[in-house]
Amino acid sequence: AADKPLAGKRVLITSGPTHEPIDPVRYIANRSSGKQGHAIAAAAAAAGAEVILVSGPVHVPDPARISPIHVTTAKQMLEAVQKALPVDVAIFAAAVADWGIADAQPQKIKKNKSDAPSFTLTENPDILATVAKLKSGRPRLVVGFAAETEHVLEHAKTKLKTKGCDWIVANDVSPQTGIMGGDRNTVHLVTAGGVESWPPQSKDDVARTLMARVAQVLNGSQQ
Ligand code: C5P
Repeated sequence: AADKPLAGKRVLITSGPTHEPIDPVRYIANRSSGKQGHAIAAAAAAAGAEVILVSGPVHVPDPARISPIHVTTAKQMLEAVQKALPVDVAIFAAAVADWGIADAQPQKIKKNKSDAPSFTLTENPDILATVAKLKSGRPRLVVGFAAETEHVLEHAKTKLKTKGCDWIVANDVSPQTGIMGGDRNTVHLVTAGGVESWPPQSKDDVARTLMARVAQVLNGSQQ
């Protein structure tokens, strides 16, 4: 039906930050709120899709009628994503920590040593690139996000190629934009065909516009 253009489609969305443990009580995180990813999950469900929402630790409420799969670390997020495959569409809105702590400690690190502790970082799996580069069972449409603080479009175009995804939704997350944690977003849709700059709008409207574009592709009218 026209109001359920994604009926019968499985849509996977990652949302929120990941937390990378230092010890049992401390972690590395980032400022992602999960608002944009959760809004996309809600919009996909409203369009009739079967939604699998894999969420890092967030404070936003679960979208209506969706029970997210909750994970903490990037590694757990990758495992949950792999379990959810195959899907028709995969949208990676999570701000996955690029690095984890190589030697996370099983007990709380005590302050009473002479030196401040130092940590070795280790690169986390790139979930988006892993899925985009699947030889078999690749989703029909793989969408990544690029949160940048400078040279937004340049970085997004590079990311489209290096990650192997179909679209990048790029935004400027410099502190003065108020985008991280805020309710509004200004994004550019970067595809092989070029760049579309969307007007500033609510994260809910970005989500609805994005899902309408996804439906167009899946239903054959354009890429
Ligand atoms: O490389 P960067 O982190 O800027 O790429 C952002 C995009 O890649 C986002 O779509 C994000 O969800 C995804 N990503 C991922 N796994 C990572 C790092 C980023 O899925 N380890």
